[in-house]
Amino acid sequence: MKQNIDVVPMLFFKNAGLSGKMAYGFWKMGLTQAMPKRSRGRNHMNHLCLLYFRLTPLCNLHCLMCGQQGVKGVLKGDVMRSESKSIVPLERYKEIVDEITPHHPIIYLWGGEPFLYPDLIPLAKYMVDKGLFVSVNTNGTFLEQYAEQIVRDGWSTIFVSLDAFQDVNDAMRGKGSYDRVVRGFAALNRAKIKYKARYPVLGVVTTVTNMNYLSLDQLAEASREFHLGVHIINLGTYTNNAIVEKQRRFMKEKLDTDIDCLEGYNTGFNEGIDGHKLYDILQNIHNRNYGHPIITVPALNPEKIHQYYSELEVPVRDHCIVPWCQANINYNGDVHFCADYPDYILGNIKEQSFSDIYNGDRANKFRKEIHACKGGMFPGCLRCYQNMLFGRKVKGF
Ligand SMILES: C[S@@+](CC[C@H](N)C(=O)[O-])C[C@H]1O[C@@H](n2cnc3c(N)ncnc32)[C@H](O)[C@@H]1O
Ligand code: SF4
Repeated sequence: MKQNIDVVPMLFFKNAGLSGKMAYGFWKMGLTQAMPKRSRGRNHMNHLCLLYFRLTPLCNLHCLMCGQQGVKGVLKGDVMRSESKSIVPLERYKEIVDEITPHHPIIYLWGGEPFLYPDLIPLAKYMVDKGLFVSVNTNGTFLEQYAEQIVRDGWSTIFVSLDAFQDVNDAMRGKGSYDRVVRGFAALNRAKIKYKARYPVLGVVTTVTNMNYLSLDQLAEASREFHLGVHIINLGTYTNNAIVEKQRRFMKEKLDTDIDCLEGYNTGFNEGIDGHKLYDILQNIHNRNYGHPIITVPALNPEKIHQYYSELEVPVRDHCIVPWCQANINYNGDVHFCADYPDYILGNIKEQSFSDIYNGDRANKFRKEIHACKGGMFPGCLRCYQNMLFGRKVKGF
């Protein structure tokens, strides 16, 4: 894509529904760019475009670079088990779905591993039946088991995490995980044929690390077999000690918040990536036709790819639009803007309506502080992928 907005026509011929949702995202999120200056007192629900539900802290894998379960993960072992006792019951989620449906946000279910939320299947079905666009991000290890049900229930999109071809993938994500994903895709494709279904659109999400970047083309080649609608290559969220400390001081001073989550991305798995080599590899991949669009995020000028890895203190995107059009509901009901860094809590859906939280004083305080920052981002936001595709027009691969 020459620029981020090109994903809309790129996806159109593969899947008009997904492309339409992307166009809606660009339009709605574009509107939000004019918002910050006149944000106070407005009903922000009118611009809610993307709502994440992090359904559970539980996961059956321990991918090395994962901020939750990886080497530096902040949700491992006993923390994960004790946190899992606080999950939101299905009935409360249904009430929230009823509340947000008139605003038609794209739904993104994730975790942990979303298939470990005990009521994933009825929740997704409830959302689909309400007419919402429901995408699920999964490690793919449960797909074979649930393929028929997923197709029958009409989920919109499944984004399966696959980081490399076979052994390299398994070194990052756990032994046997590649084959389980391949079997999952096969089962979904069989079920789509059986039920003559166009949905779900199948996607792969690849997180770039120093373990897989040299072999991204092998995975791109292998993905031809999966009948994908899209392959997203994510350059990876990462940080270092100095940035974590800067963010810690900033959040304490401006928002009276202690931070725990950014540290989970201080993993070392992005260090040593040769940006010039990665540039060549990505150019090659983007110049080939694999039968589905490939999108590299965050959308950034390819000339800046070297800087992405060699000068962590230099921003590659600016003016985060997330607080004006997105939110994440955490497994315990807490609502946050930053899906990966759930430190600043806006409120909790077990106690309040979603709109009261989204339009509340804490949400507006966050919007005011981020808007006041140079470049429209906090010090810790430098390599956040949530601000990755939408927003201002930028060049891309
Ligand atoms: C945390 S997982 C949760 C959903 C599910 N368990 C999965 O693996 O797809 C969400 C996505 O974040 C990606 N991810 C893990 N570590 C990351 C990192 N350091 N930077 C960016 N994305 C990362 C995963 O590969 C996955 O695509
Ligand atoms: S499967 Fe997902 S949540 Fe689990 S460890 Fe891997 S990336 Fe993290």
